[in-house]
Amino acid sequence: MKPFLIIGNWKLNGSIIFVKDYINKIKKFLNKKKLDYCKISIAPAYPYLYLFNIYLNNIQMSLTAQNVDIHLSGSFTGEISINMLKDIGVKYVIVGHSERRMFHKETDKYISKKFYIIKSNGLIPILCLGETELQKNMNQTKDICVKQIDVILNDYGIEAFNNTIIAYEPIWAIGSGQLANPIEVQKIHKFIREYISQKDFKISKNIIIQYGGSINENNMDMFIKQKDINGFLIGKASLTAEDFISIVKKAEKILSSI
Ligand code: PGA
Repeated sequence: MKPFLIIGNWKLNGSIIFVKDYINKIKKFLNKKKLDYCKISIAPAYPYLYLFNIYLNNIQMSLTAQNVDIHLSGSFTGEISINMLKDIGVKYVIVGHSERRMFHKETDKYISKKFYIIKSNGLIPILCLGETELQKNMNQTKDICVKQIDVILNDYGIEAFNNTIIAYEPIWAIGSGQLANPIEVQKIHKFIREYISQKDFKISKNIIIQYGGSINENNMDMFIKQKDINGFLIGKASLTAEDFISIVKKAEKILSSI
């Protein structure tokens, strides 16, 4: 069984005091508990990535970046490169999050390029995709997922997806408290996996498909039991160490009984 990948996306939140306190709590938890079924990671804002790297000190938790530039170096004021992220121990990079598509006008084409550059330079991209409420009501969920995957397939081929992550995040469920139906989510995840499998069976087997959108300790059970849900991308409920730890503890418990 693939490890269940739980990533906390802090978005535009955090401070030095917050980071230190969070890491202390996580360290205390991980010192006592070996994770048998889950892999965990946190995506703090850029300034705190380095702090995490220093304080984490080889515990069973990796680092995720919320974004990266498409250039590796040069005259690009205000940007952060993949090499810089590698330098400070980052493993995963989120790409195509709906907030970046919406507020920063990132297009499918630009996201495709970013995905490929992350992958081809040795980090693991997490491709976020999903439909709006209107698209859901018009039964367009699968079409939207295919469209967002196809742009990468057409530009770079199926190999680009080898050992990468897709996070299915229905936009209407993000930060809204409006939870998706786990059975419906399983169907979409299965559909995504089968779509990838038409191009390459092995890649489709290995790809991790996370769910994201209003997940917390109280509503996670049914999601974690679905065959094609291989992890969570968690916003709000990752913002307190106690909540994040509770989610991880519960995930370990449920997965040990499946
Ligand atoms: P949420 O955010 O858990 O607060 O809904 C999820 C995300 O944006 O990845």
